[in-house]
Amino acid sequence: MKQKSSKGPSWCGSRQRRALHTPYDAKIAEYAHRGHLVPPRAILKNAGHIAGIRESGLVNIAVLDHVAEHIRAGMTTADVDRLVFEKTKELGGVPAPLGYRGFPKSTCTSINEEVCHGIPSEEITLKDGDIVNVDVSTIYKGYFSDSSRMFCIGTVNAEKRRLVDVARECVERGLAEVKPWGFLGDMGQAVHDCARAHGYTVVREVGGHGVGLKFHEEPFVSYVTKRGTDMLLVPGMIFTIEPMINMGRAAITLDKANGWTIRTEDGLPSAQWEIMVLVTEDGHEVLAY
Ligand code: MF3
Ligand code: CO
Repeated sequence: MKQKSSKGPSWCGSRQRRALHTPYDAKIAEYAHRGHLVPPRAILKNAGHIAGIRESGLVNIAVLDHVAEHIRAGMTTADVDRLVFEKTKELGGVPAPLGYRGFPKSTCTSINEEVCHGIPSEEITLKDGDIVNVDVSTIYKGYFSDSSRMFCIGTVNAEKRRLVDVARECVERGLAEVKPWGFLGDMGQAVHDCARAHGYTVVREVGGHGVGLKFHEEPFVSYVTKRGTDMLLVPGMIFTIEPMINMGRAAITLDKANGWTIRTEDGLPSAQWEIMVLVTEDGHEVLAY
């Protein structure tokens, strides 16, 4: 639908255009006045943005469904990358990771002790018993989406299966806390509490992010925050919930040779699910999973 004219000076006399204001400006200003961290206006999406980002999310979901259908033992992670590239193209999208800050592939494939940002390779073959995260991000008509899933290859032992299941439960517990005029820390604490209740740890240095108009926007989404703290949640915010849950210690290392891949320091497995969520007027809507 066409919007009312966005031309002309805004009511507050700033040089910004009217469209940059939201119906929630006054309420947000009150929270800011009380000392809360509030979202910058640039990350609050309007109805047009949301429609576009929702479509992008549907492409992302379809690509992950395609991966789910074909992934199996014996495949290389480069094969998985080709599945992502071809399906994304077929649906009219562009893989967001390809060329992003020099990233060489269309998706990230992180196996077992790899926490995130594994680089697909012809040399890496998925084998029976592996757990692997496939992280898919799509640009569709200029709008960004991002989500990831875990896949169990063949027969996975109970210990690793439990890690995968709990990582998913952590995301769901966090998601349940996402509602307008709550705080990002409500979500973060729910994730952390869930991981700890199962004897697992949460990676601190890497987190989720705002997404939609760009690949990575504010805020940084942590899972070691406390209820009632961190950024105020306002309708129109879109961000990822993508905690990395470690079976052992939380400490991580960066692969210095490729500059990307993060692994657990203790070599124990890590699992991650990623969803993309919109804060709505009465709760939330999942845009990709
Ligand atoms: N979902 C991942 C993230 O937001 C995707 C990373 S793609 C890469 O971190 F190119 F940065 F590796
Ligand atoms: Co992400």
